Amino acid sequence: MKLFSGSANRPLAVKVAKALKMKLSPVDIHIFPDGERRIQIPEKVVDEHCVVIQSASTPVDTNYMELFFIVDALKRSGAEFVTAVVPYFGYQRQDHVFRDGEAVSLEVMIKMLESVGVDKVISFDMHSIRIPDLFHIPVTHLSALPVFAQKIQDKFSDLSDTILVSPDDGGIARVKKLSELLGNMPYAVIGKNRDLVTGAITSEGIESGNVKGKKRALIIDDMISSGGTMIVAANTLKEQGIKEIYVFATHPVFSIDGPSKLQTSSIKKLFVTNTVFVPSDKMFGKLRQLSIADLIAAELKEL
Ligand code: R5P
Repeated sequence: MKLFSGSANRPLAVKVAKALKMKLSPVDIHIFPDGERRIQIPEKVVDEHCVVIQSASTPVDTNYMELFFIVDALKRSGAEFVTAVVPYFGYQRQDHVFRDGEAVSLEVMIKMLESVGVDKVISFDMHSIRIPDLFHIPVTHLSALPVFAQKIQDKFSDLSDTILVSPDDGGIARVKKLSELLGNMPYAVIGKNRDLVTGAITSEGIESGNVKGKKRALIIDDMISSGGTMIVAANTLKEQGIKEIYVFATHPVFSIDGPSKLQTSSIKKLFVTNTVFVPSDKMFGKLRQLSIADLIAAELKEL
């Protein structure tokens, strides 16, 4: 097996290589003045199983194109099997037609990956558990929830005054799974509305579960983008008398002014993973990153 990294999240690829006691194989990436990329694989890969690690995070289109070119170069150079590790799978929220006339962008990305010759995909906490069914190649859908469960157990000695919270209906399966990992911890669900035109988020309050009398809430989600969902959820919980609010979310997508809004919010600390590289200008004091590199390495060892 040979390991390659695109430029979206090299620190994660380095960690995976270290966990596997391997070296990353080189990828030459040349960027022309007009922004086009030329990719070359200098090593021989004939009949090899090649693994490419590339997150489809911001800038999503550039990172996807780079992945397509790396896979194309590997296949043209004789690679036998290509596994694409795409820890954050961009466009996953556009997985069906919400309004007449829309594209299903996720399906377009899947078609592109399959047609350049990807044989297998490994990804984390996809927006919906049905997404793997849209592929025609095998998909391993990993989750950061075991990493979060471990962190929660290590950090909080007493969980009797704590409740898990999903900030919307879409996260019920996720919060339920984490509750099971933590010995059936109680959980609640907040009702959320997102205006499809403006993107504005509003809360309908606690939809199910009982947060009354609890001191601490842990909000669980798949991703944080603008931060709007988290801030609305935190405000809803504050109104219910919750004193301490922590967030556990897999993908730190962090668009626009999300980081500064989260830093000044009532949230005490946010735990995310390294599925997405967080550049220094998007880091903030309340943010902690947990690594999912060992989970990827363990999965690759099985292949
Ligand atoms: C949506 O349903 C997702 O699970 C996240 O809650 C959402 O994408 C987060 O986006 P934002 O941070 O922009 O509210």
